[in-house]
Amino acid sequence: MTGFTVRIATEADIPALVVLMDRSIAGPLAAFLTPAQIAASRRLMGLDSQIIADRTYLIVEADDVLAGCGGWSGRITAYGGDHTPGRVPAPLTPGVDAARIRAMYTTPEFVRRGVGRLILALCEAAARAAGYDRVELVATMGGEPLYVANGYREIERFEDDRGGVAVPLVRMGKTLKDAGSSGGNDDA
Ligand SMILES: CC(C)(COP(=O)(O)OP(=O)(O)OC[C@H]1O[C@@H](n2cnc3c(N)ncnc32)[C@H](O)[C@@H]1OP(=O)(O)O)[C@@H](O)C(=O)NCCC(=O)NCCS
Repeated sequence: MTGFTVRIATEADIPALVVLMDRSIAGPLAAFLTPAQIAASRRLMGLDSQIIADRTYLIVEADDVLAGCGGWSGRITAYGGDHTPGRVPAPLTPGVDAARIRAMYTTPEFVRRGVGRLILALCEAAARAAGYDRVELVATMGGEPLYVANGYREIERFEDDRGGVAVPLVRMGKTLKDAGSSGGNDDA
């Protein structure tokens, strides 16, 4: 989409990213969950500094205003922030494992303007360039429509109650086609 610029996030961006994530959880995600589930989601979601250290986390800006963020990862951890238990930073194997799509957040004022779609496309291309032929993610109920619209298929629905109440989540995946095609939708 025109008007947006994209760059790799660095540690200097972390304070602004934390604010963006907090607003995104309170805004777009709140339409899909109860207040108790939103409170629990804050414990299950948020900033993962490992993805920033890996330089696989993207920032989208519009006239220097932060419009959204999201990334991909070649590490086992499927979702969650630095504070979320159960993290597994061990590396995945390109060509064998599915790369992860991680931590997608759009600033409330910029939702439904293509920021999420832009980040997804760039992350899929980067994962493909790194040798992965498939990507997977764990979607919130607010994220699921974005991923369905971009060719991701449901693998399993589950609930994560580590935040105090059960938060519904869905594991989804997509096969990456060769560069130049529009991407797969797991029909094969
Ligand atoms: C999920 C999220 C990142 C989507 O970002 P976005 O920048 O608004 O997404 P896009 O504008 O690129 O949407 C692309 C398409 O996805 C679908 N889509 C995205 N959000 C949707 C929604 N709330 N309802 C229905 N369809 C939606 C639509 O098909 C949309 O195309 P359209 O606007 O032309 O109809 C954003 O809603 C968000 O930050 N949510 C809160 C945090 C969160 O839950 N993140 C997901 C973690 S897995």
